[in-house]
Amino acid sequence: EKHLLGTKGMTAQEITSILDRAAYWEQYPVKLSNHLQGRFVANMFFENSTRTRFSFEVAEKRLGAEVLNFAAAVSSVQKGESIYDTVKTLESMGIDAGVIRMKPNGLLAELAQKIKVPLINAGDGNNEHPTQALLDLYTMRKQFGDLRGLNVSIIGDVRHSRVARSNLWALQAVGAKVSFCAPESMQAPELAAHAPYIKMDEAVKADVVMMLRVQLERHEESVFKSTEEYREAYGLTVKREATMASHAIIMHPAPINRDVEIDDVLVECGRSKIFEQMSHGVPIRMAVIERALN
Ligand code: CP
Repeated sequence: EKHLLGTKGMTAQEITSILDRAAYWEQYPVKLSNHLQGRFVANMFFENSTRTRFSFEVAEKRLGAEVLNFAAAVSSVQKGESIYDTVKTLESMGIDAGVIRMKPNGLLAELAQKIKVPLINAGDGNNEHPTQALLDLYTMRKQFGDLRGLNVSIIGDVRHSRVARSNLWALQAVGAKVSFCAPESMQAPELAAHAPYIKMDEAVKADVVMMLRVQLERHEESVFKSTEEYREAYGLTVKREATMASHAIIMHPAPINRDVEIDDVLVECGRSKIFEQMSHGVPIRMAVIERALN
């Protein structure tokens, strides 16, 4: 299986081998290598991105690949061309792999059956964001050494979060313990059978406190009267941070709503791994692209 559609169903061994290879690339002494010289990789983003899109591009360039960047906003998608026809078009031009982000749920599995070149999921709807979860696990492993038995709280807009889902599957595969914390309107009922929903006071006691962005663009009506009301109920405030264990870390996939799900002063505090976490996107994506092409 060369495609990477999600972390659901991945084994601990598969995950560990990607994390190990990322560690190799993080230590690599020079920025450029020629591992993928002569191979063409297309980044196909049908939905906006900063971190994922650019860290894939940096990863591909560091591996020596030829990079094609597709942006839906300036493409024939604007004339009504479908995602399938777009991907098939790039495949017909001889790309060797495709990185893809899109809004619809379920379409990627269908595409993967029809497209012969490996596809890497860069985020699809609220389904999966596997490379985000892999870089999150990489960050946790670097901090704690072993992921088995680690307590991870995932807090906030679980319902709309592909990051929550990919982390749930990946963390459970490697033996970590996941709990969710969310207001009812942001809970994902189908995940309740897989991990418990706990109260905020308990959630901040975990080894890893992972805050999620409140995805305002995906809420039809605001469930809170104000962002301040959300912050009071579910935000990682300075007051709550003071109750975290001394060894515990803060994570967030970003982009961040400062002073909504996390207080501005905590974003770069000593126990926050948020920007280090982002930097791990490059070696993880190098490992994932290599896996797809070798
Ligand atoms: N974390 C993440 O996926 O960020 P982008 O949407 O900017 O890629």
